[in-house]
Amino acid sequence: MLFKNPHALRAAYPSPLQSVMSIAQARATRSWLSQWPMLSAEPTPVIGLPGLAASLHVASITVKDESRRSPLGSFKALGAPAALVRLVLREHPEWRPEQVLQGTYAAQLTGLVVISATDGNHGRALAAAARSAGVRCVIVLHKQVSKEREQAIAALGAQIERVPGNYDASVEHAAQLARKHGWQVVSDTSYAGYEDIPRDVMQGYGVIADELAQQCPRAPFSHVILQGGVGGMAAGIAAYLWEQHAAERPTFIVAEPVQADCLLQSAIQRQPARATGSVDSVMAGLACGETSPLAWRFLAPSVDFFMTIEDRDAVAAMQTLATAPQGDMPIVSGESGAAALAALQQLCVDADARGMACLDAAAHVLLINTEGATAPALFTELVGRLPQDVLAAQARWQGP
Ligand SMILES: Cc1ncc(COP(=O)(O)O)c(C=O)c1O
Repeated sequence: MLFKNPHALRAAYPSPLQSVMSIAQARATRSWLSQWPMLSAEPTPVIGLPGLAASLHVASITVKDESRRSPLGSFKALGAPAALVRLVLREHPEWRPEQVLQGTYAAQLTGLVVISATDGNHGRALAAAARSAGVRCVIVLHKQVSKEREQAIAALGAQIERVPGNYDASVEHAAQLARKHGWQVVSDTSYAGYEDIPRDVMQGYGVIADELAQQCPRAPFSHVILQGGVGGMAAGIAAYLWEQHAAERPTFIVAEPVQADCLLQSAIQRQPARATGSVDSVMAGLACGETSPLAWRFLAPSVDFFMTIEDRDAVAAMQTLATAPQGDMPIVSGESGAAALAALQQLCVDADARGMACLDAAAHVLLINTEGATAPALFTELVGRLPQDVLAAQARWQGP
């Protein structure tokens, strides 16, 4: 399903949006966040896939590889940690941002407890940031989050709470616990009266685009395909690229699981909406039933196309990236990470969709591999290879 958003603008980035998220704030966040030892000191790699581009008849495919961002395995390492630092600084503006995640103020932060619902990656990032800052952390997981993801979060010292139901049920439970105990919710999704923290999370994701501005200064992309869960990542990156390129911005395409189609539904209904399906998906990070209203403010006027993909297509895209049958560099890409390639592959085999999105031989496509093997056993089962074997193949491909 491909839906053309009739409200997407080709104009300068609007100033009401710029006052919420901006290149300046993304850059400021990057300057202190990049000093956190849990993040790679270098920008994540930008990888060209010429073989795959030739087979799909587009000019180029570039992957920004967020699997290399952090031992936490995903781009989410940029969101919750940024929001935690800004949360602390709102109370203590005299403190230095880079020192919050160095634990300098741990003794003064013993009374702070942060809590969040998660499908895995956001909670893992929050737990890691809280541990670095010396803050207690509670993470609420819904029924579908795998044991393997739970263990990764618990290993970072967070207290785990399990709830029946899906992601939205865990969001509600986290809010209840926070109200009851006076804890601070650090969520990647917004709701009425709760926007500052999700804004800081999304602003953290803008670091990806800020790195790209330096890494690919002379290679503007014609198309950017962004995975959608609640919409925060797509909003954080699209906002930056829109401000940077104004009316010349790339075509933005947002892809999400067919059973968790809240962003597509929002586009159809012209307001933040709920998914129509069961929400559960192998793409755990994208299995979100409700759009973040704050993210929607950025996506509604900027995303040109919304589309849905099937679980099996995401798995096939994981395999394509891992095995690189066209001779490109093998890449470790998790279920949600590979969703953008799954979307591109789907568009390229459908002549009508391809034409609508102008994905022709001149198209320069950017994909964000938003996660690596964040659930290694599942990765191995789905891809038929161990993540470390794919990394070894990558190292061999790169040569000495
Ligand atoms: C790996 C991965 N990719 C993409 C997303 C989507 O991000 P958002 O929920 O901000 O739209 C998530 C969300 O958890 C994720 O974990």
